[in-house]
This record gives sequence, structure tokens and C-alpha cells, in this order.
Amino acid sequence: MSKANTDQAQSNSSSAPDDNRRPIRSFVIRGGRLTHSQRRALENFWQEFGVDYPSGIVNSPQTFSNQAELVVEIGFGMGDSLLQMATDNPHLNYIGIEVHKPGIGKLLQGLAERQLTNVKIICHDAKEILAHSFADQSIEKIQIFFPDPWPKKRHHKRRLIQTEFTQLLVQKLKPNGQIHLATDWQEYADHMLEVLTAEQQLNNAAGAGQFWQQKQRPITKFERRGQRFGHGVWDLLFTRVLP
Ligand SMILES: C[S@@+](CC[C@H](N)C(=O)[O-])C[C@H]1O[C@@H](n2cnc3c(N)ncnc32)[C@H](O)[C@@H]1O
Repeated sequence: MSKANTDQAQSNSSSAPDDNRRPIRSFVIRGGRLTHSQRRALENFWQEFGVDYPSGIVNSPQTFSNQAELVVEIGFGMGDSLLQMATDNPHLNYIGIEVHKPGIGKLLQGLAERQLTNVKIICHDAKEILAHSFADQSIEKIQIFFPDPWPKKRHHKRRLIQTEFTQLLVQKLKPNGQIHLATDWQEYADHMLEVLTAEQQLNNAAGAGQFWQQKQRPITKFERRGQRFGHGVWDLLFTRVLP
């Protein structure tokens, strides 16, 4: 990623509100120093695997020059589980969205080492990307694993999973497309279940009021961290039904 693009991505990382209030972000740009290999990967491989924002419409024909189904992962962190899924599922295209540059560098390095052709990365606020870069009914699956729980009550408004954002996710999903969420924060899990259940166009694949037990995904870095603290894990899988 060129410095200009990186700087632009960071300054664009806020959703400009219609009025003068400061935007509410679901993330803070963490300082975290780039390792030498992450920095090198950003310089050498962004061109190949990165999609600058704004970039027009993102879809399989435009972005991957094929017709494969599209999976979008929001907040992939260090990217280990996304790398594993993309390796295991070469028949799917993956778009990873993240604002944390060390994680982007790490994933770029992994993609280059494995020479994967089915992953692209966007460095920007997922809320804006979803709204502007994806056509309605174009995504097969959206996955958000261990989004920041923002445990303090006064920070709940920063949580990614809210009614408005969920409606945007639904709008971008194909009919029968899926939303897969996971968290290690029980109170956030209950909130997610409530918000997704209230959405008329979503059907809980686990059954009413239930969490999804058949995880079928690699363990993530934050999940491992939560396990060290003795946290539980709650997965949710919802399917978009035809209106
Ligand atoms: C708690 S971490 C979890 C990372 C990873 N999914 C895991 O399980 O290890 C949440 C990540 O989401 C990213 N994030 C939060 N809000 C975002 C947004 N609006 N757009 C893009 N990334 C976001 C953060 O930068 C952070 O890396």
C-alpha cells in the first residue's frame, strides 16, 4: 500500500455524518507497531491483493474476473482464520475488510506465501464500504467474528451489530445468503440474537432463540485470547429469507 493510499484510508476511516456531530466508530485505530515483514508486505503486496476505497463496485466479475460466490469478512484482525478459510475453499471469493494495518500486513504476507487468488482486502470502515461498494443482493455470506464488544454501557453505541447496520447487511445479502457472527461476550451475544431475530428478513438457522452449535470455522486470535480468560463462545447463523 503506498503511503498516500494508507494515509487516505486512515483519514477516510470515519463515516462522515450529515450534521456536525463526530461520527460514532466501531473501532479505534490501534497504535500497534508494524513488524518488518508486515511493513514489507504492505509495500510489496497491496497492489496485488488490496482494493483502494472508493473503487467502484466490488463483486466477483469486477474484482476477481470470475463468477464465484462472494464471502465478506468484516474485522478480520490478524487474518489467520480468513487465510485458512480461503485456502480451504478455493471455489469461493473472499473480501476481507479491516482498518488495523499490522493485521492487513500479516494477511498480505500469508496470501503472497500461499499464492491465493481468491482474497482481496479493503482498508476502510466497513460501514461505508458496505453502503457504497456492494450492490444490493450481491453477497453470499457475511462473517463478523469477535467484533469489539464495547462492554461499557456508554460505549454500546459503538457496537457494530445494531439494527441499522444489520439492515444494511441484509440489504447486501443474496436471498438465502447468510450472516455468521461470533462473540465471546455473553451480553453482546444476547444483544446480537435480539437484533437479528427482530429483523423480519432473517431466519435463525439454529432455531428460534438458539445459538449456532456447528461452528465450522477456524479458531480466531481473539477467540483463543478469550479462551485463556475462560470466556465462552457464542456463534449465530442467520439466513436471509425472501421478502
Ligand atoms: C476484536 S477484533 C477481532 C479480530 C478477529 N476477527 C479475531 O477474531 O481475531 C475486531 C476487529 O474488527 C475491526 N473493526 C472494527 N470495526 C470495524 C469497521 N467498522 N470496519 C473495519 N474493521 C473494523 C478492528 O480493527 C479489529 O481488528
